[in-house]
Amino acid sequence: MIALGCDHGGFNLITAIKKYLDEKGIEYKEFGTFSEDSVDYPIYAYKVAKAVTSGECELGILCCGTGIGISMAANKVKGVRAAVVNNAFGAEMTRRHNHANILCMGGRVMSEEEAVKYTDIFLNTPEEGGRHDKRVAMLTEIENGTFEA
Ligand code: RB5
Repeated sequence: MIALGCDHGGFNLITAIKKYLDEKGIEYKEFGTFSEDSVDYPIYAYKVAKAVTSGECELGILCCGTGIGISMAANKVKGVRAAVVNNAFGAEMTRRHNHANILCMGGRVMSEEEAVKYTDIFLNTPEEGGRHDKRVAMLTEIENGTFEA
């Protein structure tokens, strides 16, 4: 199950992503917003972040105007690794190396086709583990205030 969320600036991308998920038969849960009326992106970031960290959804996708604000909000929730993606290489590497659990994109910086392409890559790329497990564990330590460098 994929958690989907957006603000008005990302509504166009989420709509295109929903169509892609429907075509692929991939299940998703929508957390809003549901129109281009102006809303506050932290609300939707928080809902999707909670759905992912609670285990209700495996991965999440969040879209706002740039992908940045909504990623900042999601990353405030413990256990979230939300990545702003603007290219195919990033979509792949953030799953492989950062074990990202939420993909963030911006409706004002990319086309719907690009967003669907990055979604496809993100959802089909596994976590690499190995040496990256240690680094991802460090992110968790930073989050928990137990990291020492
Ligand atoms: C909304 O106008 C815009 O600020 C928002 O979609 C997002 O880009 C914030 O980072």
